[in-house]
Amino acid sequence: MNASMRQLAVVTGASSGIGLELARECARHGYDLVLAADTPLGKAEAELSAMGVKVESVQADLATQEGVDKLYEALQGRTVEALLANAGHGLGKGFLDQDFSEVRHVIDTNITGTIYLIQLVGNDMRSRRGGRILITGSIAGFMPGTFQAVYNGTKAFIDSFSWALRNELKDSGVTVTCLMPGVTDTEFFERADLMDTKVGTQENKADPAEVARIGFKAMLDGEGDVVAGMKNKIQSAMASVTPSAMLAEQHRKMAEPGSAKQ
Ligand SMILES: NC(=O)c1ccc[n+]([C@@H]2O[C@H](COP(=O)([O-])OP(=O)(O)OC[C@H]3O[C@@H](n4cnc5c(N)ncnc54)[C@H](OP(=O)(O)O)[C@@H]3O)[C@@H](O)[C@H]2O)c1
Repeated sequence: MNASMRQLAVVTGASSGIGLELARECARHGYDLVLAADTPLGKAEAELSAMGVKVESVQADLATQEGVDKLYEALQGRTVEALLANAGHGLGKGFLDQDFSEVRHVIDTNITGTIYLIQLVGNDMRSRRGGRILITGSIAGFMPGTFQAVYNGTKAFIDSFSWALRNELKDSGVTVTCLMPGVTDTEFFERADLMDTKVGTQENKADPAEVARIGFKAMLDGEGDVVAGMKNKIQSAMASVTPSAMLAEQHRKMAEPGSAKQ
């Protein structure tokens, strides 16, 4: 595609997993890219540039207002056609045993930084009456996350926020889509210290490339949300009619430390 015709997409959490795959989808569809993560993105930048689009990267902790400002400033007022707000991380173990600074980092990344960036970029989109926002929520938002309580809470927030923002923007030309993956084969479980759990060691995790393909298509189609995968669709439908106490007990079986051995 001619460089002057290419549109710009911003992908957060693009160093690995679902975010890297979303960035690949953007590149395949001819978007120039600004990538963000809190570790160096040189490898992703090189790979995606080789696909014939322009790629820049910003290293920033998106749990902080300064980190989000740094990313927004790097956009230098350019028109962002698509914002893929995907950065996020989990945190296993019982809530009372967690380090509170890590708890806070989960909330600040998954919620505060995510919605701050959406507010900045979303205002520009609304002013020019166009743009697409894809937010990575999770089917985890449908169930109380015993031994991942804070993470699931953040995703319940995101799943809900996404629908509300979509409705607020319904006549604005800006679409909001929530991608809700289930268990996906990424670095998520290692980073969240869940490798001694059943969910962390589960073998049939979804392919992040497939999850990203589904999410990207839903964004282009302007859908409200998309649950990636049939098994997850059934699980989320069941969750809406299952008592919370039962869901919390089911989650314990998946995420309790030591459950990998049982
Ligand atoms: N894997 C699953 O089963 C699953 C299921 C449902 C939803 N999700 C969601 O999918 C999204 C992507 O996760 P993933 O599974 O692809 O895991 P991943 O491979 O660990 O990728 C997470 C990405 O987010 C970035 N990130 C995390 N905290 C950040 C921060 N404070 N500032 C900047 N970047 C940050 C990471 O960057 P660095 O490399 O720089 O740390 C990385 O690029 C998350 O929102 C997650 O909650 C995952």
